[in-house]
Amino acid sequence: MKLKIGIFDSGIGGFTILKSLLETRHDVEVYYLADTQRSPYGNKKFQEIRSIAEEICCFFGDKNLDALLIACNTTNACALDILKNNLRIPCFDLINSVSEIVNKPIIGVLATRATVSSSYYKNAISSKNKNIKIFQQECPEFVSEIEKQELDFNKLNSLSDLYLSPLLKNNIQELILGCSHYPLIYNFLRNKVDSNIKIIDPSESSINKFNKHFPIPRTYRYESISYRNVKFFVTSEKENFLKKLNSWLGINKEIRLVNLRSNV
Ligand code: DGL
Repeated sequence: MKLKIGIFDSGIGGFTILKSLLETRHDVEVYYLADTQRSPYGNKKFQEIRSIAEEICCFFGDKNLDALLIACNTTNACALDILKNNLRIPCFDLINSVSEIVNKPIIGVLATRATVSSSYYKNAISSKNKNIKIFQQECPEFVSEIEKQELDFNKLNSLSDLYLSPLLKNNIQELILGCSHYPLIYNFLRNKVDSNIKIIDPSESSINKFNKHFPIPRTYRYESISYRNVKFFVTSEKENFLKKLNSWLGINKEIRLVNLRSNV
């Protein structure tokens, strides 16, 4: 029996969590929803993100899921209560899971504007350890740059200098990539930050929690990663998304177009 799992994001950010999941186990059937039509979420207003979360719940509502892996920090920060209350299945979130593992006195968080304004990261970390100092930095242009067919490294370079410098001035010791798109440029960011600053991808702690809750079968044998049990859904531009599946995951798959508004 396979576990039925929902994963959603505004676009390709959820690939980081999808990969982390499939690297650890194969007994899952995944519904991956990318709300491409409304990407980026991070520059939207709090209330709009909450309405989108309601629509996402309607989409997943009839899929008979065993769990939801929240792959979008912005929705996590602005609408976790909606996802949990409407779906009534285990919802594994990024922000609370990562806040349990940070332990350095000065932490930096890179995130979308909506995530930063919600202060959800700050509150989650402070509630576990009030002595940790947290510096947040919004990165309003990162997501649309990362969503481009071809990364423009000159642009990414100037944006990352802009976004990282306030955090580095505050002598951060750990850096949380608080938007699931950012781990897609992990190697690039790693080179921009001193090697003694640990860079944390929250998807790892979330997947660890998921695997504790749903233990990996004892018969598990490592096989290379496979996307055969993943169904992809987008809200616009299938062809565009297919190119991204190709370039980021190296696969070709059927992609279904859905209208999230028609379910509400
Ligand atoms: N990748 C999502 C996040 O983690 C959404 C980013 C966006 O669409 O702005 O916040």
